[in-house]
Amino acid sequence: MAESSYEKMNIQWFPGHMTKAQRMIEENLKLVDAVCEILDARIPRSSRNPDIDRLAGDKPRLLILNRVDLADPEATARWRRHFEGQGFSVLETDAKSGRGVKEFVPAVRRLLKDKLEQYEAKGQGGRPLRVMILGIPNVGKSTFINKVAGRKAAVAGDKPGVTRGKQWINIDKGLDLLDTPGILWPKFDSQEVGEMLALTNAIKADVLDKETLGANFMLRLREYYPQALTERYKFTPDPEQNGFELLEAAAKKRGFLVSKGEYDIERMANTLLGEYHDGKLGRLSLEQPDDGFVGTGK
Ligand code: G4P
Repeated sequence: MAESSYEKMNIQWFPGHMTKAQRMIEENLKLVDAVCEILDARIPRSSRNPDIDRLAGDKPRLLILNRVDLADPEATARWRRHFEGQGFSVLETDAKSGRGVKEFVPAVRRLLKDKLEQYEAKGQGGRPLRVMILGIPNVGKSTFINKVAGRKAAVAGDKPGVTRGKQWINIDKGLDLLDTPGILWPKFDSQEVGEMLALTNAIKADVLDKETLGANFMLRLREYYPQALTERYKFTPDPEQNGFELLEAAAKKRGFLVSKGEYDIERMANTLLGEYHDGKLGRLSLEQPDDGFVGTGK
């Protein structure tokens, strides 16, 4: 995004907990045959913690692109190709409705075909496969696990920084899931990553300045999905305006007046963020694999 219009803000990162979570992941890795990482399909880059590549070593890996119901299908298809090109097995899911979830067990068995054959050869044919489920807070881990298990097996509602107890969840006689022993910490290495995480509720938007978050989101929408602004807020975004002015333009259309001639930008920012969260702006992805969609100051 153009540097001139992009608003900078201070973000309070959470410095602690990460080491503990990493240690728990490391300790438990030896107990599993594969690692399954759940990502938000709208922000596959920002919702991945690249440390996992080092932590997981040479364990077979499965990536789940979750929340596909909210993501731009074209972007999701590109991400799938991108990750498959890197050698990952990839599944697309909407864990809330359950779409795509039934592919998970067959995908694990395909991924661990060699392991299954080894077990057979050693006369341990009945031994269950064990898979660790990882993901940043609020990405849909519990919802996904519960859908795979067909019952309420995982506790929802993690708080960032809370390491919940280790839990094995039996799926069928051939598969056990290890519910995240330590929540995978998102990697905040830029303001934009922080914004992506706040826009998708992985971190609370309150840790950022909401108006600035909304203003920067407006700029992003103008650049990549202007039709969403036109359709939802009934205005054509002016290419010369900054993000706050775009919020004001939308506030005018909504009639969010504070006093005569003054519009409620804060209310508009909250509305924008809430409506994106609820999918009311359409299926919009915030990152693309190769085009510097985020993090490059484009
Ligand atoms: P976590 O264990 O990784 O922390 O996440 P959890 O399963 O608790 O899911 C967080 C929220 O995301 C839940 O909504 C859940 O319903 C929603 N969710 C999970 N997967 C999907 C998906 O594929 N599509 C959509 N649209 N939503 C999904 P919630 O508790 O109501 O919270 P929220 O909606 O306010 O985020």
